[in-house]
Amino acid sequence: MTQPVADLVLDQVGHTYRTAGAPPVEALAPTSLTISAGEFVALVGHSGCGKSTLLEIVAGLRPPTTGRVLLGGAEIVGPGRRRGVVFQQSSSLLPWRTVAGNVALGPEIQKVPAAERAALVARELERVGLAEFADRKVYELSGGMQQRTQIARALAADPDVLLLDEPFSALDTFTRELLQEELRRIWKETGKTVLFVTHSVEEATLLATRVVLFSPRPGRVISDERIDFTRRDVSLKELRADPAVVAFAAALREAIGDLTADVAPGVTKHRHRLRGRP
Ligand SMILES: Nc1ncnc2c1ncn2[C@@H]1O[C@H](COP(=O)(O)OP(=O)(O)OP(=O)(O)O)[C@@H](O)[C@H]1O
Ligand SMILES: [Mg+2]
Repeated sequence: MTQPVADLVLDQVGHTYRTAGAPPVEALAPTSLTISAGEFVALVGHSGCGKSTLLEIVAGLRPPTTGRVLLGGAEIVGPGRRRGVVFQQSSSLLPWRTVAGNVALGPEIQKVPAAERAALVARELERVGLAEFADRKVYELSGGMQQRTQIARALAADPDVLLLDEPFSALDTFTRELLQEELRRIWKETGKTVLFVTHSVEEATLLATRVVLFSPRPGRVISDERIDFTRRDVSLKELRADPAVVAFAAALREAIGDLTADVAPGVTKHRHRLRGRP
């Protein structure tokens, strides 16, 4: 059976860091997940449980020490244009380039002809609300605008999968809420698969169609819940006040809070708590 093009399959993917002179650190236990095209998956769990490690592996920036990742049936062995990455900090933007120059990076590498590239860059800058800032240097932008530039840069390469590692955590509440709404709109508009790491249970609940909760290090999947609040045709502001959203976020917060190194008893408890919610 052939896979739909953008299905992302994590097959027993694990990672142990080995540093000379220090004991090995198992960051991520062998983990299997199948993510269908178009899903918006939030990865949540305590600090240090291997979320960024997992995202870096899917990005092709770090090889797994066990297992493999397949995108559309092909094994991921390095970075590639089908996966666009947005990091927590904007330091991955090139400071000597303009906003448009940064967004053009992927299409340049792909050798997209200049006129087509310019149109593509303009479209993505428009999409993230930065059309007027195309010719500015990135250091002239606010943190939120830099994050939008990163999102536009990732989208300009037209990836199948967007990988976002706490993209909004350094922003003030207002900007964060604005960008949450924009990311949701972009996801609905483009139908891309999104893998999104966040510390915020509210953010996960509002944006995701699936929430995967990891145990403390070594990270393993404790619960994997499908939700559909984000698909409702209402603003995030309205969703935030919805009792079902509030209840799910509270249960998720409690599930994370309850996680200790002694995970085994928790597994049943969390599954029980989260199960059956929309
Ligand atoms: N380069 C490295 N060398 C050695 N250990 C590392 C390295 N990077 C991460 N680790 C360890 O691996 C574990 C997982 O790290 P990772 O950054 O994936 O966690 P995380 O879930 O993203 O945490 P946070 O929520 O704080 O961002 C941590 O215990 C960390 O100390
Ligand atoms: Mg991290």
